[in-house]
Amino acid sequence: MNRIEGPDKVTGRARYAAEYPAGPADSIAYAYPVQSVIARGRIESIDAAAALAMPGVLAVLSSDDPPALSPDAEPELALFQTRQVAYCGQAVAAVVAESLETARAAAREVRITYRPEPHDVQLRTDHPGLYTPEKVNPAFPSVTEHGDLPGGLAGAAVSIDVTYATPTEHNNPMEPHAAMAVWTGHGNGDGDGDGDGDGDGLTIYDSTQGASFDRDAIAATLGLSSDRVRVISRHVGGGFGSKGTTRPHAILAAVAARAVGRPVKVALTRQQMFPMTGYRTPTIQRLRLGADSGGRLTAIAHDVAEQTSTLVEFAEQTATPTRVMYGAPAMRTSHRVVRLDVPTPAWMRAPGECPGMFALESAMDELAIAAGMDPVELRVINEPRTEPVSGLPFSSRNLVACLREGARRFGWDRRDPSPGIRSDGRWLTGTGVAASTYPARRMPSQAEATKQDGGFVVRIAAADIGTGARTALTAIAAEALDAPADRVRVEVGDSSLPRAMVAGGSMGTASWGSAVVKACEDLLKNGSEGAADTTEDVRGDQGFARHAFGAQFAEVRVDIETGEVRVPRLLGVFAAGRIIDPTLARSQLIGGMTMGLGMALMEETVIDTATGDFLNHDLAQYHVAACADVQDIDAVWLDEEDQHLNPMGAKGIGEIGIVGTAAAIGNAVYHATGRRIRDLPITPAKLLS
Ligand code: MOS
Repeated sequence: MNRIEGPDKVTGRARYAAEYPAGPADSIAYAYPVQSVIARGRIESIDAAAALAMPGVLAVLSSDDPPALSPDAEPELALFQTRQVAYCGQAVAAVVAESLETARAAAREVRITYRPEPHDVQLRTDHPGLYTPEKVNPAFPSVTEHGDLPGGLAGAAVSIDVTYATPTEHNNPMEPHAAMAVWTGHGNGDGDGDGDGDGDGLTIYDSTQGASFDRDAIAATLGLSSDRVRVISRHVGGGFGSKGTTRPHAILAAVAARAVGRPVKVALTRQQMFPMTGYRTPTIQRLRLGADSGGRLTAIAHDVAEQTSTLVEFAEQTATPTRVMYGAPAMRTSHRVVRLDVPTPAWMRAPGECPGMFALESAMDELAIAAGMDPVELRVINEPRTEPVSGLPFSSRNLVACLREGARRFGWDRRDPSPGIRSDGRWLTGTGVAASTYPARRMPSQAEATKQDGGFVVRIAAADIGTGARTALTAIAAEALDAPADRVRVEVGDSSLPRAMVAGGSMGTASWGSAVVKACEDLLKNGSEGAADTTEDVRGDQGFARHAFGAQFAEVRVDIETGEVRVPRLLGVFAAGRIIDPTLARSQLIGGMTMGLGMALMEETVIDTATGDFLNHDLAQYHVAACADVQDIDAVWLDEEDQHLNPMGAKGIGEIGIVGTAAAIGNAVYHATGRRIRDLPITPAKLLS
């Protein structure tokens, strides 16, 4: 299907969060945050007089008069509740004004004096603050161990012991985070019981990956019950995880609107997004692999160091894919985190799997070379019969088929493994392979289906963040109803719709689709209305290890004089259950691979250790892969039937495309040059040094 909202988007009719009107245009006020310029310390004083004296300024919000928030508010959202500064760029005040321009100008006139304290913003493996968290996201054990690891390593015929590093990376969705808050009724809704309209509610137009969870988080932060908050989020210009948790801009819009008694918009700038909307934690990963003379793994150790903030423990599950990928009699996976004076890391496309598989799949390439084996064959012979750590049977696993099909399509059998011997003028050329994996889970969701106007309406608080979710759900509903798709209308992006899972963890289609199918079946049974809640169905999802798998092949060219790396060819072959819509799926997979290309060669947020500020906080300096970087890129998939997933038989596809790409490219760079770059991104400077 073509995207249902495509015409609305290309004609500008589709409204994004910052674009909603709120009655007469002059009723809207604008809030602009003031950000901390120190990474740690205390605010001594805030002088708002100059800002307040500017024409058009309505209010200055700060810890001088903290907005009423729940005492249990999550620290990243507890705006202006403390004088303590936790990181550079933290919102410490805000100006509300008649126009965005006035708010921005006045924000520069707010005088804040700080008492700075020494800060520490650098992850390192000898940091004394590293500790083992109770669990890693969302609830995995931090450490797993089985078998005799020292014996497995010492007795190995071939082994490697290498350390990889991945940098801080930032999501850069095209639509910056934005929200407009509108308090309904005449009161201020502060819930203080003083009778000034405490029964009134808040409508917030937010750029979010899930209206239901966002509504709950905003309500909880404000100390309101969820039924007094409504989140509307019909169209979202990308998220990649950065909109998968409620961000401070939404809370700022709400408290600013309450303060001035008018609707308030907050639209973050690209620069403001860097400290305020989360990022991928940097990682340092030690990989030790041992194998017998035939290449069979005898030991795997994957030990990760990563960071979190002083405010919230966010412990990324970096080593978890190693618990899934290859069998070995001895295995250890571990995570340690350190609390630094930095913003809290958050979700970025394939959190955990993406950096973790860069390390594991690079290490497998290094082991193959050490063992004198083909890297495809090394992976094939280490294919486990059951999921290595859990021992569970796989619901389906077609990694080997993906590797074989990819090798066939890519022309892998013509490859000479010797590194650094192929050249084309001043370009060295090479090829590399890596595996991909991502969990295939689902979460409880609700949906309703009704007969209406000779067709059907399906309602679910799903989120279409540019993936085509609305379109995929229409196809799923049409099939369940045995009706043509143009007779089915799917409503998403509003917390007043039946509660649904966030667009995250590659769980959208599986979670929402399960509820939609069930609601449609209920309608067919009952006549004109159907409703569904999949809580019980999801509770029954046990007894199998459910993951999508894939294989990625890369060809690179490296300029021997400048160190420039080009990627003329990228091929991904995936096995992800039943593909609901080939056009949308290809877009997701290619999008993920493109982001993986950026991770391999460009993406890196540099932190200034002197100030604790992110230095390259804009698209001029934080480079993502653009059209000119992408040449021949293709994603295909194998038909995969899996009876143990959901009514559609579908696995998620939003994230697996980015998993493994960076390793495939790094492995190809080694093949081209004989240089192994173990810290991303693979820049010309590193290749030339
Ligand atoms: Mo995605 S990082 O699961 O929102």
